[in-house]
Amino acid sequence: MAASVRLLVRRVTRLSHGHVTVCPSGPSGPSGRCCWAPSSCRCFSDDRNTHFGFETVPEAEKAKRVYKVFENVAQNYDVMNDAMSLGIHRLWKDTLLHVMNPQPGARLLDVAGGTGDIAFRFLEYIRSQRERQRRHVARSMQALSWKDISDVYAAREGGEDGPRESRAVVCDINKEMLKVGKQKADSMDMSAGLSWVVGDAEELPFDDEQFDIYTVAFGIRNVTHIDQALQEALRVLKPGGRFMCLEFSKVRDPVLARLYDTYSFKIIPVLGEVIAGDWKSYQYLVESIRRFPDQEEFKRMIEDTGFYCVRYHNLTGGVVALHSGYKL
Ligand SMILES: C[S@@+](CC[C@H](N)C(=O)[O-])C[C@H]1O[C@@H](n2cnc3c(N)ncnc32)[C@H](O)[C@@H]1O
Repeated sequence: MAASVRLLVRRVTRLSHGHVTVCPSGPSGPSGRCCWAPSSCRCFSDDRNTHFGFETVPEAEKAKRVYKVFENVAQNYDVMNDAMSLGIHRLWKDTLLHVMNPQPGARLLDVAGGTGDIAFRFLEYIRSQRERQRRHVARSMQALSWKDISDVYAAREGGEDGPRESRAVVCDINKEMLKVGKQKADSMDMSAGLSWVVGDAEELPFDDEQFDIYTVAFGIRNVTHIDQALQEALRVLKPGGRFMCLEFSKVRDPVLARLYDTYSFKIIPVLGEVIAGDWKSYQYLVESIRRFPDQEEFKRMIEDTGFYCVRYHNLTGGVVALHSGYKL
């Protein structure tokens, strides 16, 4: 309830800040789409532009186009990810988990989570951490008497300081991507501790301070207002919570950059056509990477949002960067 009221307020605020212009004269101002109001003629114009790959499109259009791209690619998304990155996306995602090092009880929100790769890795990681802790406790009990051991178990069953359940929420704007993710979870028997929520990164359907970790992997470049998505990340994190973002970035080495460009523009759309019958969607994916801010600029955006200790690691020579920061 609180979340939906907040969304309404935010929408109205955005309209009044970004999309309302004052007409110089009469009911048809410069945008030609003016509403008539006797005392003050204010019109709603949707003529703010943004980019969709290398194209310039009205802001209102971008989200629709992005939706279409991921609706088209959803069924082949995982196969194409392996084909395009030669499987390296798995290593980038494993690195994210390694740096995150989540502990049992942590609550994760994976935004633009698509088919669930990050959430699955998170739950696997927690499971192995829990197993390691269990073995550690078992080893430490070897020196205890049976009475001590039964006291330890009795105290645990008392429940109070029993471990809190870890949970991962996968949130994505695209129902088709989530559908594929859910099917994967069922087939891998990974559904426990997972939820799937349709939602926009710019207007997350969650109350404040709900999560310990917020991740977004290869998703934020698709969002129309990146600053708004970052604000939302800050809002839903608990104090002490961590923001982590994997995204394609800028390759500095000129030789690697040239190779990477050739591969991206000449091979990836062809793979898209051959494997998924969809050249255009994969051309957009490549172009959108080039439009995304570089490592330093994105770091500044995260800091400007209000995160602390912001840093990044380059992976594969800067093909991908892993940014992180804390809410204090
Ligand atoms: C390249 S996929 C990444 C999926 C997944 N995170 C991964 O790493 O495999 C990008 C995802 O961003 C989602 N997306 C795009 N715009 C979004 C928005 N405004 N809010 C939430 N998700 C969005 C798309 O639907 C798509 O599932």
